[in-house]
Amino acid sequence: MEGEVSDLVTFGDIPAAIDGTFYRVMCDPFVPPDPNNVPLDGDGNVSAFRILNGHVDMKIKYIETERYKLERSANKALFGLYRNPFTHHPCVRSAVDSTANTNLVYWANRLLALKESALPYEIDPDTLETLRYDPFGSQIKAKTFTAHPKIDPYTSELVVFGYEAKGLATKDIVIYSLDKDGKKHDEQWIESPWCAFIHDCVITPNWIVLVLWPFEAKLERLKAGKHHWAWNYDLPATFIAVPRRKSTQLPAGWKQGEYRVYSWKNCMTIHTGGAWEGKDGMVYFESSRVHDNAFPFFPPEDGKMPAPDAKADFVRWEIDLNQPSGSTVSDPQVILDVPSEFPRIDERFMTGDHEFVLLNVFIPDRSDGGKNIFHGLNGLAMHSHKSNQTRWFYAGDDSLVQEPIFIPRTSSAPEGDGWVICMVEQRAANGCHLVIIDTKEFEKPIAIVQLPLHVKAQVHGNWVDASLLSRKASLVRTITKPVISNQGALMPLV
Ligand SMILES: [Fe+2]
Repeated sequence: MEGEVSDLVTFGDIPAAIDGTFYRVMCDPFVPPDPNNVPLDGDGNVSAFRILNGHVDMKIKYIETERYKLERSANKALFGLYRNPFTHHPCVRSAVDSTANTNLVYWANRLLALKESALPYEIDPDTLETLRYDPFGSQIKAKTFTAHPKIDPYTSELVVFGYEAKGLATKDIVIYSLDKDGKKHDEQWIESPWCAFIHDCVITPNWIVLVLWPFEAKLERLKAGKHHWAWNYDLPATFIAVPRRKSTQLPAGWKQGEYRVYSWKNCMTIHTGGAWEGKDGMVYFESSRVHDNAFPFFPPEDGKMPAPDAKADFVRWEIDLNQPSGSTVSDPQVILDVPSEFPRIDERFMTGDHEFVLLNVFIPDRSDGGKNIFHGLNGLAMHSHKSNQTRWFYAGDDSLVQEPIFIPRTSSAPEGDGWVICMVEQRAANGCHLVIIDTKEFEKPIAIVQLPLHVKAQVHGNWVDASLLSRKASLVRTITKPVISNQGALMPLV
């Protein structure tokens, strides 16, 4: 589906102060995929919701990656398994193998469509047209760029890493930052203890901690036409702590250029929340945790499936940088003892002390959504570290809730003061709607925006305030004079 719809039907009132665009990306294969492929590998399809003067316009468009164009032209799948070129049609093996389907991040006046297996695609924030591959050019030799770069709001840097950065199944990791003009700084290369799945990271003012999942890639297995990743129950969840800069003040005993590897037990720390530095070489960060393999489509080589009732929660890790590389970290503190995913914070406070975390959760005393992470999440939580209070939003029967995105009330509003926007899917009704919640009354939405069609689940999304866009993204509302809308009111001029 591609298209645009103006002035979506809205129940409730959207505050006029909300002025910007919610960009989200879905995994949406344009042609029927290889039947053995995994659900992570569909083409990236962007949905953008421009909110202005209480009205919402919507646009949906595929990211025209090289892969999408080749397969659309052939009208069939040419790429085989996820990140396995040995399973691709020989005529596409030199093409960029990216679906750009994981995240959309606005940085250096560019809207980046990201997939961790390759470099970014840049798309137009207004028309959603695909502009180019690798918008930061030859500054970086790496072949990959994480889908979860982190913005340091205090230094105006986008902190980036890439793994398998020198090619398929390599252990090379690149780390650098991009300033607000897109210029590269502080490039460094390190080596992973094994070729691990490194989906997310955290940053503090001085450190980046990479979060490794216990999957392993092996070239021999790829050549045999099998999956890129195999879970390994013998590998621990692992964290690599790296100073962000040469000027980082190192704890006693650290040498210049050193990085340290810490680990816990076998588990999957899927996504990270906030991180901060404590006294005397302590770094704290939070993540979701599944006590098993949350991606059963990448089983271990012996085919063992994860426990159907695998426990999941949201935890705080403590890394003591005074400990030598190879140390085991202590058991994390459980912050929320419910299945939790997609933690997000008020990102104006990224790297520093912060009070709130927003989470997509399964509320266990509600009947819908299933009983564990494999069956979907039915609500949101907003947790205060200060008061230890958790507020819940339950979306109603037969409703699955997607990643919560925070919108500050103003650029200088106190932390957590603003709105949360998220997509809610009602499977039985085959419908979707956007929900907007005021954090002052988290339990009840202030507006529900009805989509005219069912859209696929979001992988990730972000809010981009209108003031940040180099030209005001208007999406479909490009009218130049007032017209009567379908709700009988004058539509605002843009
Ligand atoms: Fe992610």
